[in-house]
Amino acid sequence: SKRVAILTSGGDAPGMNACIRAAIIACQKAEYTLLGYQHGYNGLLQQEHVSLSLGSTHNLIQQGGTILHSARCKEFKNREGLMKAADNLKQAEIDTLIVIGGDGSFRGASKLSEHWDGQIIGIPGTIDNDIAGTDATIGYFTAIDTAMSSIDKVRDTADAFERIFLVEVMGRNAGFLALNAALSSAADYVVVPEFFESAETEIQKMVTQIKAQRALKGAVSFIIVVAENVWPNGLAGLTEALQQHDISDVRPVTLGHVQRGGSPVAQDRLLATTLGEHAIKLVGSEATNIMVGEVNQHPVTVPLSRTWETSKPLNDARVEAMRTLMNERYSE
Ligand code: F6P
Repeated sequence: SKRVAILTSGGDAPGMNACIRAAIIACQKAEYTLLGYQHGYNGLLQQEHVSLSLGSTHNLIQQGGTILHSARCKEFKNREGLMKAADNLKQAEIDTLIVIGGDGSFRGASKLSEHWDGQIIGIPGTIDNDIAGTDATIGYFTAIDTAMSSIDKVRDTADAFERIFLVEVMGRNAGFLALNAALSSAADYVVVPEFFESAETEIQKMVTQIKAQRALKGAVSFIIVVAENVWPNGLAGLTEALQQHDISDVRPVTLGHVQRGGSPVAQDRLLATTLGEHAIKLVGSEATNIMVGEVNQHPVTVPLSRTWETSKPLNDARVEAMRTLMNERYSE
């Protein structure tokens, strides 16, 4: 019988618990022992673990966050840390380590494989969706939903005052969350890193649209969704740039960590459950240093290194739809 360990690492994401739940149940069926390391790789270094059994699965699928807690672990980046982790895994007689996290966590897992010859399986969990080799990552759908409902609320007050709002959405260096939140909330403009040429070009486009809209309809609300880490000096920088074009009375809203919380939506639960179950199926197989992902709703395995070496493009059709809709809304 196998001994499996699981941990959640990096930014938590809604659905991580659903994935842990699936792994617990699948392990129980296969008669594997499942151990959960707490606080990401820190728990692995501190030998801080709990045993996970069916008793832990009650009402777990709907819980946001992660019952195993998470962390970003500096010590895990150096050789000593990695060797200590490898020793601890050997001592605990672990056959397979499952890491639910993003690209930073996968890089760590991959480094660990240089010191430990057990099996390593990654499962993509991040609201950013910035992992190649899988159509979506656990938490991404819930985060879109949260950002969308928040922007809907911003729209109410923006309409009441006929104001311009800037809404900053998370995503690290990718625009998946920003684009999809903007499209689903009918935002008027979106700034994403994938298409960002320069602040000057973006400002020109924005100002042209705001002015066209005002010429046509007078004052109306205008919502600009901005992916984080794109605009020089963030929303303050953009507010200032707009002021230079005589556009003032602008309100900034940073959605922030709200986007990481909440009960996972169905799509995240389904993805998390499928990937968790599939990962346990691979325990004991030849597959190692791989991520299990989903493409066209089928589980796939890809080498861990591919997940960060390949850049993942935004969905073309969504980009086109956004372009058409943000340009056409006020042009008739
Ligand atoms: O990767 C998830 C994420 O929420 C990013 O969208 C964001 O840039 C980052 O984590 C924030 O990190 P922290 O929670 O450490 O502030």
